[in-house]
Amino acid sequence: MLGPAGPGRPLASEHPLPRPFQRPLTVPPVLAPVRTDATTDHYEITQRTADLHILDDAATPAWTYGGTFPGPTLVSRSGRRTVVVHRNRLPRPVAVHLHGGHTPHDSDGHPGDAILPPGGDPMDAMPGMAGGTATPGRPVTGERAYAYPLDQRAATLWYHDHRMGFTGASVWLGLAGFHLVHDDEEDALPLPKGDRDLPLMIADRSFAADGAFRYPALDRTLRRVPGVTARYTDGVRGDVILVNGTPWPVHPVPRLRHRLRLLNASNARAYRLALDPPPPGGGGLVQIGGDGGLLAAPAAHDAIDVAPAERFDVVVDFARYRPGTRVRLVNRLATGPAGQVMAFDVAGTAARPAEDATVPARLSDVPRHDPARAAVTRSFLFQNTPDGWHINGRGYDPARPLARPRLGDLEVWRLVSDAHHPVHLHLDHFQVVSRNGRAPGPYDGGWKDTVDVRPAEAVEIAVRFTRYAGRFVFHCHNLEHEDMAMMADFITS
Ligand code: C2O
Ligand code: CU
Repeated sequence: MLGPAGPGRPLASEHPLPRPFQRPLTVPPVLAPVRTDATTDHYEITQRTADLHILDDAATPAWTYGGTFPGPTLVSRSGRRTVVVHRNRLPRPVAVHLHGGHTPHDSDGHPGDAILPPGGDPMDAMPGMAGGTATPGRPVTGERAYAYPLDQRAATLWYHDHRMGFTGASVWLGLAGFHLVHDDEEDALPLPKGDRDLPLMIADRSFAADGAFRYPALDRTLRRVPGVTARYTDGVRGDVILVNGTPWPVHPVPRLRHRLRLLNASNARAYRLALDPPPPGGGGLVQIGGDGGLLAAPAAHDAIDVAPAERFDVVVDFARYRPGTRVRLVNRLATGPAGQVMAFDVAGTAARPAEDATVPARLSDVPRHDPARAAVTRSFLFQNTPDGWHINGRGYDPARPLARPRLGDLEVWRLVSDAHHPVHLHLDHFQVVSRNGRAPGPYDGGWKDTVDVRPAEAVEIAVRFTRYAGRFVFHCHNLEHEDMAMMADFITS
């Protein structure tokens, strides 16, 4: 049986582990548009190899969005179109998915819609995937323009690679970044802003002796990728925890409220995040939002379980700590190095600076989907088999979409699992209706696009697909399970 931290042991680094709490936190730079007009902001990103300086004494060759890991942060206004031209200068095909975006099929980064490197062989876009067949994708060569309407509420989205059968390796090698959406409703709230609004991408990695990322291979063609060493069959976890690309960083904070946009961008590692020490009285992590933006009302937690791809937006009030306290963000699902995430050093002066941020008791309207009104109920079984990781008895097969939802209909999806699977739907956010017939859990609130389905659990979600007709995917966001075929298409009309 697989525990919440995933099976087996993490892949051990051959390189000595960096020392925790030595390096400052960095925040990925916000990308400037190359041009804006009345309706649209235009961006360009070149995907290329770059040497990262994660370790003190060795460079780490990486695949990057524009030379950094995480990639640059995109910041958009709700309702303003964002167009991102992605150029592929990497040695392998890529596909870009805006995770959490309400995006038409053409720009959704369907795994078959690859961007081949200039001069690349189209067959490269479709390596053998366990149980799968060739993809009915539309590969292009060199570059692709992704157009995002972003007709959706403020939320912490992220973009990452989604290339068929190779997502785990691509993301591990560096292809992930934030895309934040703002709107008037959220801007009007007195939440922490500016440098007290911190996107935090948490991702585990392991390192080879020479400083390269270690990653097991999916197939023999990957042997040319630095750090790729062997075949994997399950989720890959590392023994070094990076936050915004820095191992166990430390961040000085004034005694003021801070908003932490927590993203678990790990391939397969789940975290139980907590503050150590907790503030007097507990409840130090005040959740204000999730995958799909603001909750209706804040929810105070002592710890938060974060599965791969989930986002939790929390406010921490560092004025609840004595001056000079080191507050560590820890992971209660691991002992040893992976049990630490980062540290906040609370300013040493007793005088509290003027506070302009609060957490209002009411944040937003989150109208409830009523599952009793569902037009359709569907069941999906997520299962390990000798042939790979399957949904309803099959590995990914684009010739066999598993659902054909009608746009506008409310649907209930019943997700059943034999192991631990963070299940992600493209196109629209959903609400968790129940877990094992009981009320949703403490981390299931608000609009979500990824839900953690635990061993022998049945999770019911309610979803209404809207506006965009076409082919989309849903899949396990344990990226190795996804690459090992735990994915299916659904076609909206
Ligand atoms: Cu975050 Cu289909 O992926
Ligand atoms: Cu899975």
